[in-house]
Amino acid sequence: EFHREPKEISYSFDNPVWGKYDRQQLQRGFQVYKEVCSACHSMKLVAFRDLEEIGFTKPEVKAIAKQWSTEVPTINDKTGEPTTRKALPSDYFPSPFANETAARAGNNNALPPDLSTIAKSREGGAHYIHSLVTGYADQAGYKNEEGEELLKKFPDAKTPPGLHFNPYFANLNIAMPPPLAAEGQVTYADGTKATIDQMGTDVAAFLMWAAEPKLENRHRTGIAVFLFLLIATMLAYGSYQTIWRDKK
Ligand code: HEM
Repeated sequence: EFHREPKEISYSFDNPVWGKYDRQQLQRGFQVYKEVCSACHSMKLVAFRDLEEIGFTKPEVKAIAKQWSTEVPTINDKTGEPTTRKALPSDYFPSPFANETAARAGNNNALPPDLSTIAKSREGGAHYIHSLVTGYADQAGYKNEEGEELLKKFPDAKTPPGLHFNPYFANLNIAMPPPLAAEGQVTYADGTKATIDQMGTDVAAFLMWAAEPKLENRHRTGIAVFLFLLIATMLAYGSYQTIWRDKK
């Protein structure tokens, strides 16, 4: 077994009862999505205006949409011809590719998946995404945790040209080139040092929020339901005691 399980890192939203998102981290993660990942990946279930939920103001959202590097497909009112226009806050994060053929042509025949729910559809969630984007390795000499060397055991497993070796990806060779290649690839607005690990941690948190924006409401409801049931149980027990007090 040469495939690696995601590294466990610590997130503010991990705890199933108290977990909350860290708004600053989500904003940094969005910055990484915007400046790096959106060159290949759409998020068709997340609209620009949803960014208000992670602390951007309405004018900021408007500006982000207007300056988005990919325009949104539309139809010219007069000619009826397909064209594009600048994004609006009500638009969803568009795909930078015109269609699947174009997307595959630019990615060694692989299709960059839409990232809206990827943190929920892959086992390990944010932890997996962090490990995937920071975990590219040199295949030559790569050993698994038992110390077996991959290319010694399976010489034919050599990564084909155009693919990249990544022990966290299920079949070890992924068409996505290492997206986070250098420290300081983004300059964080809040001054946090943009190490590769920091960018990977933050973008994975952002994708977790995208996939589960109501996580905090779910946790709050859980606490309320638990307290209600606790009190209801105590009251039920109390009335049972009262009703049967002199019947023994
Ligand atoms: C696949 C995340 C940037 C191209 C994926 C997957 C994730 C992901 C989670 C799915 C892996 C799986 O199937 O389990 C990200 C993040 C990025 C980023 C967080 C930014 C930090 C990019 C960029 C490109 C790209 C810039 C294009 C140059 C691809 C392709 C695949 C993919 C082609 C499909 C790989 C395959 O099936 O072999 N990415 N990505 N990604 N990504 Fe990215």
